[in-house]
Amino acid sequence: MYAIIGTWKMSFDGVSAAARDLAGGGSAGDAVQAAIQQVESNPRFRSVGLGGLPARDGQVYLDSGYMDGDSLRCGAVLSVSDVSSPIACARLLCGRDTNWMLSGESAKEFAVSCGIPLRDMRTEESQETYREAMKTFSPGAPLSAYRGHDTVCVLALDTKGHMVSGTSTSGLFLKEPGRVGDSPIPGSGYYCDTRFGAAAATGLGEDIMRGVLSYEAVRCMREGMTAQRAAEAALEGFVSRKETLDGERGHISLITLSPGGAFGAATTEVCFPFTIATPALTRILYTLPKKDGSMAILDTQPEGTGNPD
Ligand code: GLY
Repeated sequence: MYAIIGTWKMSFDGVSAAARDLAGGGSAGDAVQAAIQQVESNPRFRSVGLGGLPARDGQVYLDSGYMDGDSLRCGAVLSVSDVSSPIACARLLCGRDTNWMLSGESAKEFAVSCGIPLRDMRTEESQETYREAMKTFSPGAPLSAYRGHDTVCVLALDTKGHMVSGTSTSGLFLKEPGRVGDSPIPGSGYYCDTRFGAAAATGLGEDIMRGVLSYEAVRCMREGMTAQRAAEAALEGFVSRKETLDGERGHISLITLSPGGAFGAATTEVCFPFTIATPALTRILYTLPKKDGSMAILDTQPEGTGNPD
């Protein structure tokens, strides 16, 4: 069995290619890195890597996290600029006993020391988006997730039973330089324990971190919930509390993967596309809040295929 799941339509090409490698016996770590790098290197995707969303000084600061579910080791880079592949950096940091989470210039120096190419991650389009937004920007105004489409998150299970989680993002549009979201923070933006499952989150990092949502989803799987039920329970547990506290449910989506290859997703968005690939299934699925307000996979797998669990 292998399985791979990625957030948003932007993950489709990378997940599809990585699934072919997994089918041939490739590792979960290689699959996660390759699928995310495909998004990081494509300037068409406006919230990750090259051409990502600028901060309020016009620079593109990137966050990325990687977690190995066998060893529970992590690697992460925070607020790094000019690094062509933040996920490659995060993965190389994973395995260190200490100093596995590096920010800013230290992260960039680490990338150079590993031979990861430096590159100006600003593009003409990202600078145009920035200049337009700055015309009406006021420093005190609240910022919101970029139409929900912020982080590429990928979870993979390989044929040897290993699991990995990874994330990469330019973070909140017009953030303060130095601001860090959930994506490089284990437990919040991603978590993975091969015994119980993997999870990752996309949406407004400040909220995701309040709920430590990826850990919470894996904890729910540890308690015996299916991947789908765990995604729903982790999200609903937090957003119902947030609604009481803040008067709104926020912008958050979660994906989950079980050690058996079953997947799950839950969202507060009207529409949350994600990509899933297993030996039996390769297509984009959508979750939508149902009429009764609960969350579910709307578009189910093709006939004759199964979602184990
Ligand atoms: N979820 C990405 C961020 O808030 O930075």
